[in-house]
Amino acid sequence: MTAPADGGSATDPAGATADVDLDELGRLAVDLAERAGEAIVELRDGAVATTTTKSSPTDPVTEADRAAERLIVDGIRRARPDDTITGEEGADHVGTSGLEWHIDPIDGTTNYVYGLPAYGVSVAVGRGERMLAGAVANPVAGELFAAVAGRGATLNGDPIRVGRPVELSAALVATGFGYAAERRRGQAAVVAALLPEIRDIRRMGSAALDLCAVACGRVDAYYELGLNRWDFAAGVLIAAEAGARCTDLGGGPPSTEFLVAASPELHGPLTRRLVELGA
Ligand code: IPD
Ligand code: CA
Repeated sequence: MTAPADGGSATDPAGATADVDLDELGRLAVDLAERAGEAIVELRDGAVATTTTKSSPTDPVTEADRAAERLIVDGIRRARPDDTITGEEGADHVGTSGLEWHIDPIDGTTNYVYGLPAYGVSVAVGRGERMLAGAVANPVAGELFAAVAGRGATLNGDPIRVGRPVELSAALVATGFGYAAERRRGQAAVVAALLPEIRDIRRMGSAALDLCAVACGRVDAYYELGLNRWDFAAGVLIAAEAGARCTDLGGGPPSTEFLVAASPELHGPLTRRLVELGA
């Protein structure tokens, strides 16, 4: 077989992994997610008092979101000064290496503020839309999900896989809602139509953890409209490496427009139904 002209290979057609040390990227993502996870737990009591809002009156941010992002950015800048960095709390560093880090310092900030234990730190690095390494830490549960492209996904170091095949009517489906009232009206209508047709809905409050739940079979699928890339960059890699199919509504790569992640057998029926419902 002839290698693609851009230096890629049959399994990596775009050459996204050429000239990168995947082990180094994977270790750095894990280390930073773990350290930021410890920091947000330590900071929580004081940080909750600093809660303000961002994109809408229901979109919270705390001093811990900003501190965790600083910790992660400093770690990347020290280890890999030439990489681009984008983060939810404003990190926006343009590098020259062709690799970009996507940081969500606290995914599930509403849960964090209320003391619900479903929040995490999400760190991923990729080339363009192709993620190469990612980690999601849930510090309260003591869970660290991680993946490196082509090498599978792990939970606390043990390999994980998506759940067994299920019909749509028996599927446990996670989803989430944006912060804008008008968007929520549409999302609520889709959930209202879907709920009687499936096993049940879960709204756990962290897209990154929802994707990790797909990866280890705790839910059968997850979908959401209008996420930011930092919400899903690590989780999509982890879910895909665990055997999930992750796309937008048209079967293309997951995007900030729409994301569906499901076990391969469920992905088609769920996506078709979401399209019918105008999701
Ligand atoms: C939010 C969470 C939530 C999802 C929202 C996200 P944040 O991220 O992932 O589950 O439904 O769309 O914005 O604000 O907690 O970082
Ligand atoms: Ca988020």
